Amino acid sequence: NFLWGAAISAYQVEGGNVFSDWYAWEQSGKTIDKCGEAVQHARYFAHDIDLAADLGMNAFRISIEWSRIEPSPQRLNTKELERYRQVLLRMKQRGLQTFVTLHHFTLPQWFVLRGGFEKRSNIVYFLNFVRLIADEFKELIDFWIVLNEPMIYAAHGYFEGSFPPGKQSRSLYMQVLHNLVYTHKHAYRLIHAHVEHAQVGIAKNNQFFEPASNRFLDRWVVKKTQQHWNHFFLRKVEKELDFIGLNYYFHNRLSFRLYAGWQPNHIYSVIRNENLEQGDNGFEIYPKGLYHVLMELKEYHKPVYITENGIADRSDLKRQKFLYDHLKEVYIALKDFCDVRGYLYWSLLDNYEWGSFGPRFGLASVNYKTFERRLRPSAIYYKGIIKENAIVF
Ligand code: FCB
Repeated sequence: NFLWGAAISAYQVEGGNVFSDWYAWEQSGKTIDKCGEAVQHARYFAHDIDLAADLGMNAFRISIEWSRIEPSPQRLNTKELERYRQVLLRMKQRGLQTFVTLHHFTLPQWFVLRGGFEKRSNIVYFLNFVRLIADEFKELIDFWIVLNEPMIYAAHGYFEGSFPPGKQSRSLYMQVLHNLVYTHKHAYRLIHAHVEHAQVGIAKNNQFFEPASNRFLDRWVVKKTQQHWNHFFLRKVEKELDFIGLNYYFHNRLSFRLYAGWQPNHIYSVIRNENLEQGDNGFEIYPKGLYHVLMELKEYHKPVYITENGIADRSDLKRQKFLYDHLKEVYIALKDFCDVRGYLYWSLLDNYEWGSFGPRFGLASVNYKTFERRLRPSAIYYKGIIKENAIVF
């Protein structure tokens, strides 16, 4: 019953999302590229869903762009709602279990202008959107992901300032995190009140942390960072999780340093190991870390789905090995009684990687002038794994 699939998010592929806070952010010149038409997935969604299904996948993860459905407060774009219905229907018709994210980094600009998730009183707007989706699509959504990577969202938007709204404040960072905990809990209850047998979870970015040396302080800082980054959010929402979605990308070696700057804990710096393999965007490739973060999740006693894992690899020379090595770790974790039930590769398509079209994560490449999709050899390799439901080693 293992779920095999891939993931996308609305803003990164759809195109034309002019009511989103990211659109406004890009207009102020804060990014290398503007998202613009992205890969025109809003137009080619049927083709893209077929691409996933033809690879033999039995699951697919999308997100719904709130700002498309509610471009201004209380104005409902029913055409967009219907388009998402077509998207979900197509997925179902093609035998794909549906994972749907309700907040994948982007928000309507009107919501952000009112203070976004900084203000607890604003959460009701988001919950109204959740209720609408629950009412409209209750039969079409199998796995509900309320929030994608809340730690990344809060850290980038409110601590480092590299995502909109571009703020740099430790207290706002914590405030937004607490409000997101509150948001998740209420959304969880609301979805369960509207949808029988709903499975509601999160997509959580967890990282593998290691001490840069055996020094006590390095080990201490690893423990502290791990507790904060991997567990703070999960522990707060533990009762409101039917499953845990895991996004795995990062391995960090930490070294204790007082006042190291704008890191969430201020007390470490990240040491790079220059000898290791990396993706085109500099993310280190460290498959063993996936095993460790999976095993760390066992304490929650919930089913785990890997909701993202992937590599930026334009030439496609590393992706097959990346898949093989990571899936091997999934297998070892399974053997060690980790209840992991699915793997969704990031991403089906090359896409807008939050500020730039540079990194190419796709199983299919996209020509950004003609929007033609072409399967990379690694997609065919993945198809074989899915067909066999196995890797051979
Ligand atoms: C994750 C995001 C996803 C994509 C990948 C590479 O943090 O959830 O949208 O950008 O990284």
